[in-house]
Amino acid sequence: MNYQHIPVLLSEVLSYLNPKSGENFIDATLGGGGYSRAISESVGSGGKILAIDLDKDAIENAKGQMSNVKCLTVAQGNFKDIDKIVKHHKFSPPDGIVADLGLSSYELEHRGISFQTNQPLDMRFDQSQELTAKFILENYDENRLRKIFEDYGEEKFSRQIAREVIGYRVKGKEIRQTSDLYQLIVNALPKPVKHRADDSARRIFQALRIEVNHELSSLEEFLPKAFGLLAPGGKLVVVSFHSLEDRIVKQFFVKLSKGCVCPPEFPQCICGKNPKGKILTKRPVVASEEELRHNPRSKPAKLRAIIKL
Ligand SMILES: C[S@@+](CC[C@H](N)C(=O)[O-])C[C@H]1O[C@@H](n2cnc3c(N)ncnc32)[C@H](O)[C@@H]1O
Repeated sequence: MNYQHIPVLLSEVLSYLNPKSGENFIDATLGGGGYSRAISESVGSGGKILAIDLDKDAIENAKGQMSNVKCLTVAQGNFKDIDKIVKHHKFSPPDGIVADLGLSSYELEHRGISFQTNQPLDMRFDQSQELTAKFILENYDENRLRKIFEDYGEEKFSRQIAREVIGYRVKGKEIRQTSDLYQLIVNALPKPVKHRADDSARRIFQALRIEVNHELSSLEEFLPKAFGLLAPGGKLVVVSFHSLEDRIVKQFFVKLSKGCVCPPEFPQCICGKNPKGKILTKRPVVASEEELRHNPRSKPAKLRAIIKL
């Protein structure tokens, strides 16, 4: 098995984390290990890296391919449980934590996440989890499906597509494969927009993937725990791939960087709250022209970083 993934915004991630010899870091999304390997080169044998991934294949791959990286400990788990994972491994307060959200190229190619290849509708990062995309399409009611397509895919024709899913069920037609779902979407779209079926399919596939992997709720749980674990002066760097994730990260960072929460009409502060962090990225950092040329997957990536005060 070769858990392939070209790291995105790697030099930018390193410049914000700024790893130095002997320091400790957490890579909350190991993937193909691109970030962990690069960090290990700076921290050396005196430093430590704890790398987490939900996906057993990512963990197995790192155990094989990165066995020479002595400072690396890998842990299969969900980053929303970062506090428990850190406690279990008795990892000292880290100088930096990075999360590169979403999925690896390996998962994109092997888990029925894309309509470009015909595969069973699975979409799970964690293969031991029961919930799959197929289960959702076979069991969720029309309103719940519509809401997922609207909330996580921002798809204009969510209602029509959700209704078509129910229509398939009534007729006993199966939705097992990515190609079945793609065809269903084409069928559901009004005639004048059928030629834009790929755009709707991209949004619907994204929505299902987010639901299957509980991506947004995991991120919401992860962020405060990760920030809480950092050593003073430690940095939290997050790379996100769609606006729903980026919004969560942005709002969380803004909250940390604000001190006083008194209403603006108060003549003086009575809450006494101080900022807990300083935002290092006024605007999200995006891929350079050069990176976009050699890795088009970097296009939607947005990096935000904060330092713990
Ligand atoms: C974009 S890839 C990371 C790539 C990595 N930075 C590299 O350079 O190879 C995202 C990884 O995060 C993992 N992942 C997604 N959600 C997760 C979660 N809640 N907890 C732990 N890992 C997660 C996926 O399984 C995938 O391997």
